Amino acid sequence: MMRYFQDMEYRNIGKSDLEASVVGFGGWQAGRQGWGTEFDDRDCIDAMKYAFNNGVNYIDTAEMYGHGHSEEVIREAISGMDREKLVIATKVNPPHFKHDEILRSCENSIRRMNCKYIDLYQLHWPDHSVPISETLGAMEELVDSGKVRYIGVSNYNREELEEAMASMKKHEIVSNQMRYNIIQRGVERDLYPSMKVHGISMIAWSPIAKGLLSGKYGHENIPTDQVRKNDPLFSRERLKSFEPLISTLKTIAEKRDKTIVQVSLNYLLKKGAFVIPGIKRVDQIKDCMGSSGWSVTDAEVSEIERLAPGTESPGD
Ligand SMILES: NC(=O)c1ccc[n+]([C@@H]2O[C@H](COP(=O)([O-])OP(=O)(O)OC[C@H]3O[C@@H](n4cnc5c(N)ncnc54)[C@H](OP(=O)(O)O)[C@@H]3O)[C@@H](O)[C@H]2O)c1
Repeated sequence: MMRYFQDMEYRNIGKSDLEASVVGFGGWQAGRQGWGTEFDDRDCIDAMKYAFNNGVNYIDTAEMYGHGHSEEVIREAISGMDREKLVIATKVNPPHFKHDEILRSCENSIRRMNCKYIDLYQLHWPDHSVPISETLGAMEELVDSGKVRYIGVSNYNREELEEAMASMKKHEIVSNQMRYNIIQRGVERDLYPSMKVHGISMIAWSPIAKGLLSGKYGHENIPTDQVRKNDPLFSRERLKSFEPLISTLKTIAEKRDKTIVQVSLNYLLKKGAFVIPGIKRVDQIKDCMGSSGWSVTDAEVSEIERLAPGTESPGD
């Protein structure tokens, strides 16, 4: 594989042969719904092109992001690129978990992205109204037909993941995408250790805590977009409570000649996760890419965890 960005690291997703950049491109923002109006499709396309031309080969989206709009934006960004070099991951929405609906959703995602096949097709959230054997049976058919290369899940707790693994007949689940960042570390309790035992990759969503861990928001600067304005994480009190942590992240960042975002993402990379920060513009992905190729020290991790809420904190 051609390595454009000299510091970018690549790892296999689970036991698959998908060699993905540890920093992937989070595509929810490109759906352009709920995330504010200060950016447009062109910004997202430019950011994706920059990423793909400079070492990020992995992009994450979902059929539900902007009702397919994120996938359409991706089509534009990847047009003319070597498809084989990209790791394209998308997700099917729980209302489509019945057998025929899964097949249809997959066709629709492939058509919207014009990507021939999906590298990693993920169940977006667990859904207990359709038997998991029916849902995963359809996913396995998609692998057999070549439309999907590997199967992943998202937001599955330990029991749900084990149930899903047990219903697979021929193929394996290679990843579980979970909310995971310095201040929301519930996955560390029992899920992540068990995923490691089974060789299932952790893909961290909200790795910057929806922008909070960039240090640009605070109790006097609360984001007003639909996604964040009512999120308890961005309440005045909680933002105030994170000030000592943000200040420590800033000190570490200055000492290491990095940004706060880079320290926050590197913390997760050190724990073995892939990160998929949500991106609106080139400057954001450029910054996030600098989280790869170096490592916070064990002492820095301890310092961060001394100030961060524990794994039992509210919001986990
Ligand atoms: N599987 C799931 O259920 C699930 C759920 C949520 C998300 N996801 C996936 O995970 C991705 C990331 O999660 P997320 O969007 O919730 O949270 P996130 O990545 O923690 O935060 C995204 C926000 O961080 C800010 N940001 C990004 N790069 C920055 C930089 N270099 N400097 C400063 N700020 C920066 C932007 O905020 P501003 O808007 O302030 O610019 C962006 O909107 C999504 O795009 C999506 O692909 C999956």
